[in-house]
Amino acid sequence: MHTDVKELFNQLWANYLEVTPSAKKIHAILGSSQQDDVINDHIALRTFNIEKVGLDKLAAHLLALGYTEGGEYHFEAKKLYAKHFEHKDPTLPKVFISELLLEKCSEKLQSIVRTLVDQIPEEAITADNFLYSGRHWTIDQQSYETLLAESEYAAWMSVWGYRANHFTVSVNALKNYETLESVNQALKDAGFPLNTSGGEIKGTPEVLLEQSSTLADEAPVQFTDGTRNIPSCFYEFARRYPMANGQLYGGFVAASADKIFESTNVR
Ligand code: NI
Repeated sequence: MHTDVKELFNQLWANYLEVTPSAKKIHAILGSSQQDDVINDHIALRTFNIEKVGLDKLAAHLLALGYTEGGEYHFEAKKLYAKHFEHKDPTLPKVFISELLLEKCSEKLQSIVRTLVDQIPEEAITADNFLYSGRHWTIDQQSYETLLAESEYAAWMSVWGYRANHFTVSVNALKNYETLESVNQALKDAGFPLNTSGGEIKGTPEVLLEQSSTLADEAPVQFTDGTRNIPSCFYEFARRYPMANGQLYGGFVAASADKIFESTNVR
């Protein structure tokens, strides 16, 4: 486990940029060439609900750094369960961790996923770098296609493994932009396609959270039987609104997150 929370996020960011080159360009558009100048609202991590690597195993890395549990979320159609974790230092990103509920999936999917997870060495799961360690297994293209036909999420995990699925810029903290609309316009003007599933902006001021995201970049993935470009990670933007007590809302809106998951869809 990391003992330095900043170092953990620096490593997650560096790992994310390796397969998400657009994030670096967008970062510059939003008025910064230094990571430290952009405040992240949250990052998102994915896993399977197998005891060996379940949500709790990922969360342990954050609890050790002073994070505490926030809300929990259910995504019935996508067969996902999620929790978010937050830190008392408001400049540290929240961490949204989801897991695929395997018992709700087909026997075939479960069997492929178990074969992948069985290949992870036990010691890798508690190692400092687990949250950005990528995949610990080999996979062939047919297995990927089989997963993809049933669950985009499982297919994404099978090729990208453990890494930040996305970083999310806090629009509230940006100096040069006030609204999410203005951020979206700047990105579109620069040629970055946005995820339009559920509309460009997910959420409303009434639910206290508005979010938008790019479509995932593509990056080469090595299969046992060849190399192919596959959607990797995306960049998200969030604007939070104050609650009745004046504090910014700190949770997530399941209906919006549901659409955000589709940013990694194969096109
Ligand atoms: Ni997100």
